[in-house]
Amino acid sequence: MYIQKAILLALVGVTATVRAQTNETSEEDGSPLLTPSKPPLTEPYVAPTEPKYNYAEVMHKSYLFYHSQKSGHLPYQRLAWRSHSCKNCIGAHGEDLSQGWYEAANTMKWGLPYGFTATQLAYNIFMFGDAMKSVDELAEGLELMKWGADYLINAHHNDTHFVGQLGVSALGPISKQIELDVDFNYWGPPEEYEDWVPTGLPHTAYYSSADDPASEIAGEYGAAMAATAAIWREYNSTYADELIDHSIRLYKLATEHPGSYVNSSQNAFEWATFWYPSTRYEDEIAWNAGWLYAATKDPQWLDQAKYWYQKSNESWYEYSWDEKGAGMHVLMYTLTKDDFFYNNAVEYFDFFLPGPKQQAKFTPRGLAYVDHWGSVGYSGNIAFLMLAFAKSLGWDHPKSKELTTFAIQQINYALGDYGYSWVVGFGDNYPQMPYHKSSYNAYIDYPMRGRFQDEVEGDFTGSKTKQRFILYGAVEGGPNIDDTYHDDRSNYEYSEVTQDYNAAWTGAIAGLIDYYGFDKFEPYTDCGLDLGWTHPNASAQPVWPADDCYHTCNKGCPRGQMSSSHSWKMLMNKVNFDGTPITNQKLVSTSNKKANVSVAGDKNAPNAASSKSSSGNSSKAVGSLLGLVMISFALLF
Ligand SMILES: *[C@@H]1O[C@H](CO)[C@@H](O)[C@H](O)[C@H]1NC(C)=O
Ligand SMILES: *[C@@H]1O[C@H](CO)[C@@H](O)[C@H](O)[C@H]1NC(C)=O
Ligand SMILES: *[C@@H]1O[C@H](CO)[C@@H](O)[C@H](O)[C@H]1NC(C)=O
Ligand SMILES: *[C@@H]1O[C@H](CO)[C@@H](O)[C@H](O)[C@H]1NC(C)=O
Ligand SMILES: *[C@@H]1O[C@H](CO)[C@@H](O)[C@H](O)[C@H]1NC(C)=O
Ligand SMILES: *[C@@H]1O[C@H](CO)[C@@H](O)[C@H](O)[C@H]1NC(C)=O
Ligand SMILES: *[C@@H]1O[C@H](CO)[C@@H](O)[C@H](O)[C@H]1NC(C)=O
Ligand SMILES: *[C@@H]1O[C@H](CO)[C@@H](O)[C@H](O)[C@H]1NC(C)=O
Repeated sequence: MYIQKAILLALVGVTATVRAQTNETSEEDGSPLLTPSKPPLTEPYVAPTEPKYNYAEVMHKSYLFYHSQKSGHLPYQRLAWRSHSCKNCIGAHGEDLSQGWYEAANTMKWGLPYGFTATQLAYNIFMFGDAMKSVDELAEGLELMKWGADYLINAHHNDTHFVGQLGVSALGPISKQIELDVDFNYWGPPEEYEDWVPTGLPHTAYYSSADDPASEIAGEYGAAMAATAAIWREYNSTYADELIDHSIRLYKLATEHPGSYVNSSQNAFEWATFWYPSTRYEDEIAWNAGWLYAATKDPQWLDQAKYWYQKSNESWYEYSWDEKGAGMHVLMYTLTKDDFFYNNAVEYFDFFLPGPKQQAKFTPRGLAYVDHWGSVGYSGNIAFLMLAFAKSLGWDHPKSKELTTFAIQQINYALGDYGYSWVVGFGDNYPQMPYHKSSYNAYIDYPMRGRFQDEVEGDFTGSKTKQRFILYGAVEGGPNIDDTYHDDRSNYEYSEVTQDYNAAWTGAIAGLIDYYGFDKFEPYTDCGLDLGWTHPNASAQPVWPADDCYHTCNKGCPRGQMSSSHSWKMLMNKVNFDGTPITNQKLVSTSNKKANVSVAGDKNAPNAASSKSSSGNSSKAVGSLLGLVMISFALLF
């Protein structure tokens, strides 16, 4: 939710801010303020008794979104427009940090939101893995989890040091209100990042440690690893044990050397604090212990979880990348069935549910409006927790009806109940211009390659060219409080997509498959999706084998078994796409040495840090960029 400030500062500057905050629609930019075509409901919402949307399709597409965010050397290509990237993502101690997912439009891996996404994606499977399995999405989910957790394993250097951030969003002392954008001033595809990144600075690993602590990141990584262990154990217990070991060691570090990255004096964490200000760390420690209890059933972790849960009671009224309290009510109730957690969960939910305790704000058409930024993602977080809680109570429990009704209302709002779908590539009327770089400037179609990055930026934000590739499954930010919105990259507060918006959302969708019944849905596949393979610059489309019914139009795979996905078999059998054994597990394609890092002024110059007014090469451009940014800061504060 805070990333908007970054984008604002870094790139668009003053004009977009003004436009976004007023209700003006300018003729020249051709981006009208849109209102959903259907009027608000005048009666209390009644949830449909039969599924109104194909949630199996939404599920499939939501997982597909994470392929657009994938970093590293890909074992296979799912999207014609995404390939190997993070080619020089090596830590100070030689760690391979190439895997995982990028945060949003950019190629950052911020510790806290990354860890939260990983934990939540595992939480989804923990609660609704059976529903996923019934529509053949479980293998995909587990594979995705491993991709994310393997990054965390590598990021955990030793008992005192771990990588809390990969990538440089910007440089510069905040105190002097100066920044020099790096990642945030790169507008091309991740596949070419190392060639064109402004200042020539590659993805750099920043460490949190006992002396410079980030207990919330350690706790969230620990939670993600324990949660991943919980869902992976039945498929590979050695892997699960390895994850538990990391989780316990991170927990120890977080508790023995407590502290928050908001107090770090490292430049990277000062910027992390600016975009993702962590409120406290005690809730992530509770979360870590809670997930260790979920994964091990060892009662010492229950005691630890309760202790830290009490210590973080100020976080009990939110669930997000920052606050875990409300997620803890539901997780702990699921694990213990204790009334204490029941009551806390209900108190939280009553804030949203119709009735005397309702305090939440809503749009006229019924979207819970937690924050102007990411309102659809937030409402998905709430919907997930309600569905998870109702599942734990039993769908027939008296409280469950209210919870499921609310969750269905929120999800269906986002899927098109009022004529507009907030999920890219779903429905008839969905966002055409998500704020996402690689689906616009893809490595196979990047017309402005080689131009100054400020020109590329101007085209990205200012042009009304639609996204060149469909960013299937991405949940966009959300509307204004009156349900109006812009479908436009320059109005990124509506059109931003992030890994965390889709995380609990994916679980809520699986929850609805569980709620309505597995037999109401058919597995959905890539059949008929436009993944970019017909583009003239695309490489040859992978030919999946006949017994793969996930990535193909093939029929006849037995339903509800992992075997319908060939990529799952590749993972489990350690084979390449063509079936040959993977001999070298090393994932980085480049050798373990620094790539062509260059100072501004050489061949990278045309794409180096630049500014609106720059006409010269990057060394000059840097100076004028600073001026621009200072103005932006002054306006914001
Ligand atoms: C916003 O735009 C609508 C439609 O053009 C108009 O009716 C309304 O008065 C405007 N609101 C503000 C606050 O300018
Ligand atoms: C972890 O690694 C760092 C960097 O190499 C080193 O300074 C530190 O002593 C190590 N900690 C432990 C517990 O080995
Ligand atoms: C299970 O996980 C371990 C640890 O990551 C790995 O070494 C092993 O190859 C995995 N086994 C299978 C069958 O995938
Ligand atoms: C940062 O440090 C200050 C001073 O020690 C402390 O009051 C504050 O709680 C810390 N912030 C967090 C989030 O831990
Ligand atoms: C949190 O717990 C402390 C200590 O028990 C208490 O003083 C405080 O009021 C609690 N805060 C909330 C929001 O419950
Ligand atoms: C790929 O295709 C687009 C349009 O079809 C073209 O503009 C572009 O130059 C091509 N090549 C590359 C390497 O992007
Ligand atoms: C570095 O750049 C030089 C000259 O541009 C090129 O010959 C070389 O292959 C590059 N090395 C890498 C690792 O990309
Ligand atoms: C900028 O650099 C390019 C390539 O190095 C060069 O062709 C061009 O003349 C330079 N422009 C200025 C204004 O220095």
